[in-house]
Amino acid sequence: MIERIAQLMQEISALQAKNAQEAEALRIKYLSKKGEISQLMNDFRSVPPELKKEVGMKINQLKSLALEKINALKDSAGESSASGIGTIDLTRTPYPITLGSRHPLTIVKNEIVDIFSRLGFTLAEGPEVEDDWHVYSSLNFADDHPARDMQDTFFVESHPDIILRSHTSSVQSRVMEKTQPPIRILCPGRVYRNEAVSARAHCFFHQIEGLYVDKNVSFTDLKQVLLLFAQELFGPETKIRLRPSYFPFTEPSAEMDVSCTICGGKGCSMCKGSGWLEILGCGMVDPAVLEANGIDSSIYTGYAFGMGIERITNLKYQVKDLRMFSENDVRFLDEFTSAR
Ligand code: DAH
Repeated sequence: MIERIAQLMQEISALQAKNAQEAEALRIKYLSKKGEISQLMNDFRSVPPELKKEVGMKINQLKSLALEKINALKDSAGESSASGIGTIDLTRTPYPITLGSRHPLTIVKNEIVDIFSRLGFTLAEGPEVEDDWHVYSSLNFADDHPARDMQDTFFVESHPDIILRSHTSSVQSRVMEKTQPPIRILCPGRVYRNEAVSARAHCFFHQIEGLYVDKNVSFTDLKQVLLLFAQELFGPETKIRLRPSYFPFTEPSAEMDVSCTICGGKGCSMCKGSGWLEILGCGMVDPAVLEANGIDSSIYTGYAFGMGIERITNLKYQVKDLRMFSENDVRFLDEFTSAR
C-alpha cells in the first residue's frame, strides 16, 4: 500500500491538463467518490494497526497534494483558455476589502438626530442656495438691522436676493409657510459664511436647527428638552445653564452652556477655567416670525434652537483644526472607524 501511495504521489505531481475539461477529468479520476484516493481510503481498513499511523499520514499528504495540484491545473487551464469566462469569476470582490468609515460630522449628526427623533422631532430640509426672505426677512431681520452683520453672507453672482444660507434657521420659515402647527422639526444641513479659513473658522460648516410650534409651548418645555438632549449626548452628569442673549427671531433668546465635557465643571484648558462650554442658541419664536410665516401668534407659541455640528464634534472628539473636517485625509477619517 505504501508503494501504491508513493507511485500515486509521483503520478499526481507530474499531471498536466490542456484545458478545464481535462483538469476536471483528473479530479474525477483521483478525487471523486470512486476515485483512486477514495479507493485507498477503503483499503485503509485492512492495514495492520501498527502501520495505520504511517499509512494514514501518507494518504493525507497524497490527498492534499492531489487537491493542490488539480486546483492549480484548473486555475491555469482557466486563465489560458480562450475566453476565460466560466472559470474566472469576474464578479468576485477583490481582496482585501478596505471598509470606509463614517465622517465624524455624520456620526455626531446622526447621534443628535437620533436623540430628537425619540422626542418626536421629524427631519426637514431646505435649499442651500436661498433667498433673502427665508434666511433673513421672514426671521425678523429688518433690512438695515445690524444683526445681518452677525453673519457675513455670500451672494450668488452679485444678485442682492440670492444667497448661500448662513444658518439653517431658514428651514424654519420654509416649513412654517407650508405647514400649520403642531410643527416639530429638526433641520440638519450645511451653511456658508464669508470667513477667512483658519483652524477656528471656515467658510462652510454644518448646523442643526430645531423648531417646535404648538399651543401652550413654553420656555420650560425648551429648557427640559435641552437638558435631556445634553445629558443624552454628553452623559447623565451633564448640567446646563442658559444665559440671556439676542437673536432677531427669538424673544426671549438664550445661549446654552453645558458643564465642561473634559473637567466636568472644575475648570480646565478646554473650558478656559470657567467649567462651562457654549453649545447652542435658542429661545421662544418671536410672534412677529410666526405671523410673517402665516401662523396665528394669538393661538400658537413655539421654541427654536440652533447648534453647530463641528462645535459639538470638537467637544466630543477634540478635533483641534476645523479644516480637518473637509480635507478628506484618510488618516484622519480612519480615526473614526470604531465610532458609531
Ligand atoms: N441661527 C443661529 C446662528 O446661526 C443659531 C440659532 C440661535 C438658531 C437661536 C435658533 C435659535 O433657532 O433660536 O447663529
